[in-house]
Amino acid sequence: MNKAEQLTILQQNYLSCGKCDLCHTRTAPVFGFGNLDAKLMIIGQSPGFEEDKAGRPFVGISGKLLNYMLTQAKLDRLQIYITNTLLCFVKPGVSVKDDQIMACRNRLQEEINIVKPKVIVTLGAPALYALCWSKDSIWRNRKPKQLSTGIWHVATYHPAAALYHADKGKGIIDNIITDLRKAKLIIDLLEKKNKK
Ligand code: URA
Repeated sequence: MNKAEQLTILQQNYLSCGKCDLCHTRTAPVFGFGNLDAKLMIIGQSPGFEEDKAGRPFVGISGKLLNYMLTQAKLDRLQIYITNTLLCFVKPGVSVKDDQIMACRNRLQEEINIVKPKVIVTLGAPALYALCWSKDSIWRNRKPKQLSTGIWHVATYHPAAALYHADKGKGIIDNIITDLRKAKLIIDLLEKKNKK
């Protein structure tokens, strides 16, 4: 089975998911989207209002900011696969709960296993927790690390943090761009090594 077929089956399994309370307030689960052969996977938090309406991750204001930051890091969104820690809409300003992350964790792992990225960038604390079971601060995890699976991981802030904290916004954006550049550098180095 190719990756597209595997992802279709995965999505079908979660179309009417009721593993957590978010199933009562979502329109439909918002599945990951992007290049199935992506070297880079980005994991956000959860679909917002726009994503819930559109059925695609990162199409709203955080998505626009993410697009800008990807461009600054010379990363092409068409070459990336983007998904979320949670499949379902979380109201703005409401914190994600651990039991929701646990309920969605197997789906995220299956998605990672299918896409097989070389590098994963997690955006925000829930994504860091979902990938590494770590509640450590993001700034301590911004240094790239190789996971036991061999995949490289870079943790960074969520773009929404820059929108919510206008005073620190520029600093947060600069940090995210720096971290996206680290991910690009790893991909470039791995490609160079493969060509040798
Ligand atoms: N924020 C996220 O974490 N994911 C989205 O898809 C949109 C906004």
